[in-house]
Amino acid sequence: VLIIGVFLLGSVTKEVRIQKELAKLTLDKAKSEFVTIAAHQLRTPLSAVRWSFGLLRTGSSLDNNDRDIASKGAQAADNMMYIVNDLLNVARMEHGTIQFDMADGDLRDVVRIATDVLNEAAKKKSISLRVSVPDTPVMTRFDQDKMVMVAENLVDNAIKYTPQGGSIAVELSTGEATARLRVTDTGIGISRGDSARLFERFFRSDRAKRMLPDGSGLGLYIVKTMVDGHKGTVRLEPAPQSGTIATVEIPLVHGPSSVSGTAVSGSSPQGILRT
Ligand SMILES: Nc1ncnc2c1ncn2[C@@H]1O[C@H](COP(=O)(O)OP(=O)(O)O)[C@@H](O)[C@H]1O
Ligand SMILES: [Mg+2]
Repeated sequence: VLIIGVFLLGSVTKEVRIQKELAKLTLDKAKSEFVTIAAHQLRTPLSAVRWSFGLLRTGSSLDNNDRDIASKGAQAADNMMYIVNDLLNVARMEHGTIQFDMADGDLRDVVRIATDVLNEAAKKKSISLRVSVPDTPVMTRFDQDKMVMVAENLVDNAIKYTPQGGSIAVELSTGEATARLRVTDTGIGISRGDSARLFERFFRSDRAKRMLPDGSGLGLYIVKTMVDGHKGTVRLEPAPQSGTIATVEIPLVHGPSSVSGTAVSGSSPQGILRT
């Protein structure tokens, strides 16, 4: 009787645990569905706000003061759009609907696309953006849009967290078994204590918040997920003098099958996922 009792108790406990896990899964799914819908709904009015401010800013009827206000409005709407897009992407990731379209390609294309997109932002802050890539193709297997997101996020952070007049170096190189993308900046840097937490959802350092109150704190979480999808690694560390070094490594494809043409040339990911 005792044995049967223990057995029953065991299976009841197990059943309760399974029910709890199921309930949690359903709740998580409901949560990410809710975020997806809310973010989607926000995008339309936000686009209108952005567009209106943009139009206002370029109009001729404004004096300088009004134009400045319109610019700030446009900037705030842009920031909001980045945050909404981040939420959307994170919800998609948690939904398990993120797919990796892996193809053989040249990682130099990724660097080129990401830095082209962000050149203007660097210029605006008088930050020099130096890009160096090898003379020969860096062939690996990767999802081009995802890797562009990775590079964009790292360079975008470097620009955001580097004061006026600083400099950023973006370097692509190949090692024994990996391709390495390194973004070095002369910005506010990160503390050793923070470096483990930077990839957590919503984490933003106090320094970063002081410098820029707006931000989703989701960019590096997205970066980590994308890099994991490529079986790669990503880390951020303080640069020796001041500033930050971000390093992504993904495995190189070996063997002759990898040496075939370049990846389909790049549509940028519509500015999604920069934060
Ligand atoms: N290049 C950098 N220099 C200094 N701090 C950085 C840099 N990149 C990331 N960080 C830190 O990591 C945090 C998380 O980055 P991220 O996920 O992109 O969020 P966000 O940019 O929205 O703050 C930032 O808030 C900042 O504290
Ligand atoms: Mg960011």
